[in-house]
Amino acid sequence: MKILVTGGAGYIGSHTCVVLLQQGHEVVIVDNLCNSKPAAVERIRELGGKDVKFYKEDVCNETALGEIFRREQPGAVIHFAGLKAVGESVEKPLEYYANNVGSTLTLLKVMGETGVKNIVFSSSATVYGDVEDPPLREDAALPNHANCPYGTTKLMIEQILKDYAHAHSDFNAVLLRYFNPVGAHESGRIGEDPSGIPNNLSPYIVQVVVGKRDKLHIFGNDYPTPDGTCIRDYIHVVDLAEGHAAALKLFEKGNCGLRVYNLGTGRGHSVMEVVKAFSEAAGQDIPYVIEGRRAGDLPESYADCQKAKDELGWEAKKTLQDMCADALRWQRQNPDGYGD
Ligand code: NAD
Ligand code: UFG
Repeated sequence: MKILVTGGAGYIGSHTCVVLLQQGHEVVIVDNLCNSKPAAVERIRELGGKDVKFYKEDVCNETALGEIFRREQPGAVIHFAGLKAVGESVEKPLEYYANNVGSTLTLLKVMGETGVKNIVFSSSATVYGDVEDPPLREDAALPNHANCPYGTTKLMIEQILKDYAHAHSDFNAVLLRYFNPVGAHESGRIGEDPSGIPNNLSPYIVQVVVGKRDKLHIFGNDYPTPDGTCIRDYIHVVDLAEGHAAALKLFEKGNCGLRVYNLGTGRGHSVMEVVKAFSEAAGQDIPYVIEGRRAGDLPESYADCQKAKDELGWEAKKTLQDMCADALRWQRQNPDGYGD
């Protein structure tokens, strides 16, 4: 199938494009490179062993997007494009609503006009908020808003897709709620390339390992968890990428309507466990200091992944050790990410 991938030059998008190419799909990327580099597209081509079409374009640009859709006529869309920094979304809420919600509205309009009926959307475990205790199931009650504007854009987009699917019985949408993606392609050629100081745990730790940062700041060790640090469901980015390929198979089988799946491992690891795993993978101590809690962090979050296993035939295979080894390989081979 020809898949149009918005945000395909980004961290999760690039790994997914490689898996799609390897599985025989044709890939067209639309990315405005606001948080990624053109080198990522080159490396997708290298690892996928095939060409991919790349449009440097903003998904909010309706005219340009319409032209791309009319020219390419994709069979399905995977919509990764979006801004994702939790703290920045608190500072700049309008940018987040305009970009994340706006791009999705434009995309759906163009899909409707050009007869494209299949979409996979990048949602997040953040939509669960703190309403229910883990393991989190897809049918859990959702809060009205998340703990930050970024998270609320995901809730809003999920609702928009549900309403649109309700109005169009031939429209198919698969909402994938990612838990905590980490790791990199095992070749070390593509990986996570955050700009500035990393917000997330794994990219921060690997920068400590290669000497770009002095020490890790652990945000709180007084949570009600066995070692006092927060627990998350870390999932290898290549497992996550394969989850998208599994979701596309629903479209090949026919009309699936709107479906929601968690993509996680079903297993939680504490911050201290992650530090230990990275330290073992790196063969060196990881200096850290305990700080106060970070606003908005939940003590514990991990998925119930049974639904994806039953209906998509997908489950995560890689371990925390794989995630650490692959993230480190990427960082060591590319200490400055993709460069300028
Ligand atoms: P990323 O920033 O690496 O990739 C997003 C890509 O989208 C970037 O290449 C960026 O340039 C592009 N983009 C952003 N706005 C655009 C626009 N208007 N038009 C065209 N391109 C645009 O992020 P990622 O980690 O790969 O995340 C991909 C998706 O998954 C995002 O929607 C994110 O919210 C979601 N998600 C990520 C995580 C995570 O921890 N990484 C967790 C849950 C959900
Ligand atoms: N942490 C630190 N130090 C750091 C970074 C993180 O101690 O420098 C801790 C956090 O406090 C948290 C854990 O490591 O306890 C994981 O934090 P991340 O920032 O890596 O991940 P989050 O679970 O906060 O957020 C991620 C994505 C969001 C998404 C959310 C869904 O970044 O986009 O998962 O649960 F919305």
